[in-house]
Amino acid sequence: MSPRDFTTRAALLDQYAVVGTPIAHSKSPQIHNAFAEQTNQALEYKAVELPIENFEKKLRGLQKLGYKGVNVTAPFKQQAWKICDERSPRAEKAGAVNTLVFGNLDGKISGDNTDGAGLARDLVNNHSILIKHRKILILGAGGAIHGVLAPLLTLNPTNIILANRTVNKAQKLADVFQTVGDVKACGYDDLSNEPFDLIINGTSAGLNQEVPPISNKVLGINSVCYDMMYNTSAPTAFVKWARIHGASRAIDGLGMLVEQAAESFYVWRGVRPKTTNIIQSLRQ
Ligand code: ATR
Repeated sequence: MSPRDFTTRAALLDQYAVVGTPIAHSKSPQIHNAFAEQTNQALEYKAVELPIENFEKKLRGLQKLGYKGVNVTAPFKQQAWKICDERSPRAEKAGAVNTLVFGNLDGKISGDNTDGAGLARDLVNNHSILIKHRKILILGAGGAIHGVLAPLLTLNPTNIILANRTVNKAQKLADVFQTVGDVKACGYDDLSNEPFDLIINGTSAGLNQEVPPISNKVLGINSVCYDMMYNTSAPTAFVKWARIHGASRAIDGLGMLVEQAAESFYVWRGVRPKTTNIIQSLRQ
C-alpha cells in the first residue's frame, strides 16, 4: 500500500478514542478494534492522553477533528458529565459518564454511562452470580462507583452497603440512589461482623497494591469478591486478599472492562459484539 492509500483508508474509517491520564496502559483500543473486526464496522479506535488542565478544550478539539465519540476514563468521568449537552437517563443519575457521542454537525456532546451495564453483565451472564435477595458490600465512592449503583439496585439485592474512607462521599451517593433501592453509607470501621454475599471493590487502593482496611469478618464461606480493577499478569491486591481470607470466589474486573466496552460500542454503532473470546484472549 502506498502512503496515499493509507491516508485514504484512514479517512474512510470513523474515529473513536479513549481519553484519560495516564492512558498508555489502556486495553480499550485492542478491545474496540477487535469488536470492529468481528462486526465488520469501519472504525479506528485509539488511546489519547488528555491533560488535566483544559480537558474540555482538548475534548472539543477531538470533536472538531471529526471523531465520532470517545470513552472517558479516570480522572475525567465526572468532569465529562458536566460538559455534556444531553445525557441518557442512566448517565444523568450516575453523575459520571464513560461514553460520549459527538454530534459532528450540531456540535452537541451526548453522554452515557455503560459501567453499570458492564458490571451487571459480567457478574450475571459471565459468572452466574445472583444479585436478587443478596447482601452486597461496595467499597469506595469515587467515579468508578457512580455508574454501577443504579444497575445493581434494579437487580433487587436485599441491600447495598456503601463503605468509603471518606464517609460523606459515600453518604452523598447513598442519598442520590436511595430512590432506586436500599442503599446505606458507612465508614470501614462501622461495618458489622456479618458476612456479605458479594463484596465489590471499587476503590483505587489497588493501584498501590493496597486493600481498603476492612475486617475479614465481612467474608463468609459463600462470599464472592469482585474487584473492579483487573490485572492480567498477576492477581490484584483485592483478589489476593479475598483468596487468603477464604472467599468462595475472587474475580477481577477484566470482564467488566470488556462488557462496558461492548455496551459503548452498541451505543455508537447499534451492533452488539460478542465478548467471550476477547475476554479469554486478553487473559492470555
Ligand atoms: P475513581 O474514578 O477510580 O473511582 P476516585 O474518584 O479518585 O477514582 O475515587 C477513588 C476511590 O478509592 C475513593 O473511594 C477513595 O476513597 P476516598 O473517597 O476516601 O478518597 C478510594 N481509595 C483510594 N485509595 C484508597 C486506599 N488506600 N484505601 C481505601 N480507599 C482508597
